[in-house]
Amino acid sequence: MNRIVYLNGEYVEETKAKVSIFDRALLFSDALYEVTSVLDGKLIDFDNHMKRLDRSMSELKYPRMLNHDEIKILHKELVKKNNLNEGTVYLQVSRGVAERSFDFPDSENDFTVTAFTQEKDLINNKSALEGISVMTIEDNRWGRCDIKTVQLLYPSFAKFCASQEGFDDAWMVRNGNVTEGTSNNAWIIRNGTVITRQADNLILKGITREAVAECAKELNYKIDFKNFTISEAQSASEAFITSATTFVTPVIKINNAKISDGSPGKFTKLLREKYIEKARKIAI
Ligand code: PDD
Repeated sequence: MNRIVYLNGEYVEETKAKVSIFDRALLFSDALYEVTSVLDGKLIDFDNHMKRLDRSMSELKYPRMLNHDEIKILHKELVKKNNLNEGTVYLQVSRGVAERSFDFPDSENDFTVTAFTQEKDLINNKSALEGISVMTIEDNRWGRCDIKTVQLLYPSFAKFCASQEGFDDAWMVRNGNVTEGTSNNAWIIRNGTVITRQADNLILKGITREAVAECAKELNYKIDFKNFTISEAQSASEAFITSATTFVTPVIKINNAKISDGSPGKFTKLLREKYIEKARKIAI
């Protein structure tokens, strides 16, 4: 693969993009990111991704924000240069290159801004059609999961543990309640009510989560943003995950328990169709 990637204002071949070993992303995981999905060569929900990036940067006291228009142009350029029809654009901003010190560098320090595309079958893929299995695991992340940082070692470890046990993904659990998936939000449907955890500091408030909640309302489903336990999830009538890379993907097994008859839920399928239809309409 020889993609064209973005590094600090320049478009270069991926093998030629080099970042300093003193970058704060490398030394302190001092970097934030967004993943925007691309359908038919167009960006889905770009503005909301930028708003969340601003919030992440502001929470971690980044001294200034990125210019959204410039970031939009670079996203579109990358899509064009790489002929991307379906997949994602990954954008990362780090606090930049600085001598290793626990204190933040000078506020004038240049950020390091990187971006690249990834091709992915977002619409037609095995997980969407057949559903996925998830294993539960203790949520050992820090207490600010609402900020989209690149500190992803624990979710990556959790996903590895799940695959070692033969599962597709993991749902993380804190104080007996499911928080979220390794890189997605977790949902269940019980007694006709769609349930997902309230957006607090212990989960990432997904952009897809927001859009899917709107879709559920339009389909006249009741929504509750509240905690749920593993056993509530296992005895739910349906379960699913949402994210920019999975849209709405059915969950058919949690640990050793099948969800209903172990096939993707009817309402989950409807929600997925509605979400994709709306996403296509708002794509830019
Ligand atoms: N992950 N929760 C976590 C922990 C996530 O990492 C993500 C997204 C989500 C869903 O957010 P959104 O709907 O805005 O994609 C929830 C991205 C896709 C990733 O890290 O690749």
